[in-house]
Amino acid sequence: MRFSRVFGALVLSGSAVLAATLTQVSNYGGSATSKAQMWIYVPDNVKANPALVVVIHSCQSSAQSYFRNSLIPWAQGSDKGGYITLWPSSPNSGGCWDVSSKSSLSRNGGGDSNAIANMVTYAIPKYSVNPSRVYVTGGSSGAMTSNVLAASYPEMFVAASLYSGVPAGCFVGEGVDQWNSTCTHGQSIDTAEKWGDTARAMNPGYSGTRQKMQVWHGSVDTTISPNNYMEEIKQWTNVFGVSTTATAEKADHPEKNYKMSDYGPNVEGIYATGVGHSVPAHLAASEAWFGLP
Ligand SMILES: *[C@@H]1O[C@H](CO)[C@@H](O)[C@H](O)[C@H]1NC(C)=O
Repeated sequence: MRFSRVFGALVLSGSAVLAATLTQVSNYGGSATSKAQMWIYVPDNVKANPALVVVIHSCQSSAQSYFRNSLIPWAQGSDKGGYITLWPSSPNSGGCWDVSSKSSLSRNGGGDSNAIANMVTYAIPKYSVNPSRVYVTGGSSGAMTSNVLAASYPEMFVAASLYSGVPAGCFVGEGVDQWNSTCTHGQSIDTAEKWGDTARAMNPGYSGTRQKMQVWHGSVDTTISPNNYMEEIKQWTNVFGVSTTATAEKADHPEKNYKMSDYGPNVEGIYATGVGHSVPAHLAASEAWFGLP
C-alpha cells in the first residue's frame, strides 16, 4: 500500500518528493447500491491507531477537487496532526449528494449515506483507526450529508462539524439527488420536536450515545438560506433534550463577526455575520470541537 502510493507519486510528478497522496480505494465493500467513490489520505507521519476525519464535498465538486481546495484545509490538518482523512466522491451528476431519497435518508437504505458509512467501516480495520475517534465534516451538500449520517449512523461518529447545510430530512424529495427549494429557501420551518422526530426516524429505536454537533452558517447565504441554521439547532438540541436557548455565547469568535453559541456540551452553533455560501472550513475550531489532533 505504502510503496505503491509512493511509487504513484513519483511516477505522476516525476520528482523525487516522497509525499503521501490522495488515493482511491475501489473495493470498500458493503451492499449499498450507491456508486460513491472512496478516496483516502494517509499522511506520511500518520500516528499509531490514528483518528479519522470524513470530509464530504459540496456540489460541483469531487473528492479530488475538494482535497485541493484551499478553503478546505483538512489535508494540511492531516499532515500536521497525523490523522487520516477520508474523502468520499459523489456518484451523481452535478456532484451533489443524495439527501432527498429514502435510500439515503434511512440507515442501511443503500444510498449515498450508506455508501459513506461502508467506507468508514472498511477504513477502521484497514488503517488501524481508533473507532472512538471518527469524525465527519462537510460543506453545503456535504454538510447536509453529514447531518444525514449523524442521524442514521449515530454510533459511528464522535463529533460532526457542518458548514452551511440544512437539517437532516429537510431536503426530502421523490427520488435520488433532487433539489428541494422549499428547504434551501428557508421555508421548511418546524418545531424542535418535529425536527428531532425527523432525525430519530432515520434510525428508529436508537438510544445510545450520539455525536456532538457543531453547526456553522453565514448570514448572507443566498444558496442555502440562513434560516436553516436555527432549524439545525432546533433539531439537534431536541435530539439531545436541551433548550434552544443558548447556555453561553461568545461574540467575535473564532473571528470577527462570528458568534459562537453553546447549547450544553453537545451542540454548538457558529453564525457568521456578513458571510455568504459557504462558510470556509475553520480547521482549528473544527479540530478543537473534535478534540484533535
Ligand atoms: C421539500 O422538503 C420539505 C421539508 O423540508 C417537504 O415538506 C417538501 O414536500 C419537499 N418538497 C418536495 C418537492 O418534495
